[in-house]
Amino acid sequence: MSDRPSLSEAIDLQIRANGPMSLASYMGLCLTHPREGYYRTADPLGAKGDFITAPEISQMFGELIGFFFVNLWQQMNEPRSFTLLELGPGRGTLMQDALRVASRADGFANALHLQLFETNAELKAQQLARLGDYTPYWASEIDAVSEDPLFVIANEFFDALPIRQFVKGESGWHERLVGLKEENRVFGLSPTPIPSSAMPEAVRNAELGEVYEANLAAADVMQKLSRIVARQGGAILAIDYGYAKTRTGETLQAIRKHTFVDPLEAPGSADLSAHVDFGALSEAAAAVGLVAHRVTGQGDFLKRLGIVERADMLSKANPGQAPAIAAALHRLTDSAEMGDLFKAFVAASPGLEPPGVLPTA
Ligand SMILES: C[S@@+](CC[C@H](N)C(=O)[O-])C[C@H]1O[C@@H](n2cnc3c(N)ncnc32)[C@H](O)[C@@H]1O
Repeated sequence: MSDRPSLSEAIDLQIRANGPMSLASYMGLCLTHPREGYYRTADPLGAKGDFITAPEISQMFGELIGFFFVNLWQQMNEPRSFTLLELGPGRGTLMQDALRVASRADGFANALHLQLFETNAELKAQQLARLGDYTPYWASEIDAVSEDPLFVIANEFFDALPIRQFVKGESGWHERLVGLKEENRVFGLSPTPIPSSAMPEAVRNAELGEVYEANLAAADVMQKLSRIVARQGGAILAIDYGYAKTRTGETLQAIRKHTFVDPLEAPGSADLSAHVDFGALSEAAAAVGLVAHRVTGQGDFLKRLGIVERADMLSKANPGQAPAIAAALHRLTDSAEMGDLFKAFVAASPGLEPPGVLPTA
């Protein structure tokens, strides 16, 4: 038996030694702790896992993303060498579907350098099994890419990065912390108020008790990659659940086996995530010179890329599959399903016209 403390014990020991920890520190440990972090241990995807993602629902999702990048590559006059980077590629399904379609464009596969950013060893093995033909490269740093044009895709990656929460009080904002009461982990608030002037303008006039969630890690990733795209040309496509403009609202959630659970219970055993602030990502990209295109509902984005026509084509080719294809189309695009909650955001080099999204207002 190991004499090393479990993740749960390590968190409690840290709180006893240093006092309550920020939600971002707690989330970071729960998700990426080397031995017991949620994303380090097993494959959480699929019907038998904790959740299902769009590429696991239908091949159409990845195929349209393949079309999206071919279109941009063609707009850039088909550079003979470029990097396609996927953040958090899961089982590699999205990229496999995307590259099957994209490889039909003459010269695309030859020019492609496929790069993947992943923390989970089991998922890396699945990515290799599905994408080995394209000789992918896993970089340990998110921004360790060549000097070629860069295309980035991130589906349900940004929601998995740690957030901080701040609650509006009488004399400023108080950070939400994870502490201990008797032997139990509990949420509390830092007694030190942070002035409203330190918060984004969009939330400064919030009512007492409202919560603002800051995802500094997500903004940092966006800014690092945007700087590279601004210099080398290309685009970043992020799809996730989230909101188009920075606002207040509490969205932290913990999911195990498709059910919401208490985020403080059994650290490392549930998926902790928060809705993505696409307003903050837009600002991060625009600040370094990219065009932040209008945040678009996933349903509209996929329809503009031609998902209805693709579903029709697939159903005609496989009539026995038609009901399943129709169900997947509905799930991906309907506003009561993933169509509005999930959003597509594109930050691109000036001059590019990304398909699927409307130009900035
Ligand atoms: C919710 S899954 C989405 C998987 C895939 N994109 C899909 O749509 O099926 C999140 C992915 O990001 C990876 N991931 C989460 N946090 C990460 C981190 N901090 N660094 C690198 N990869 C991470 C996970 O292992 C997983 O592959």
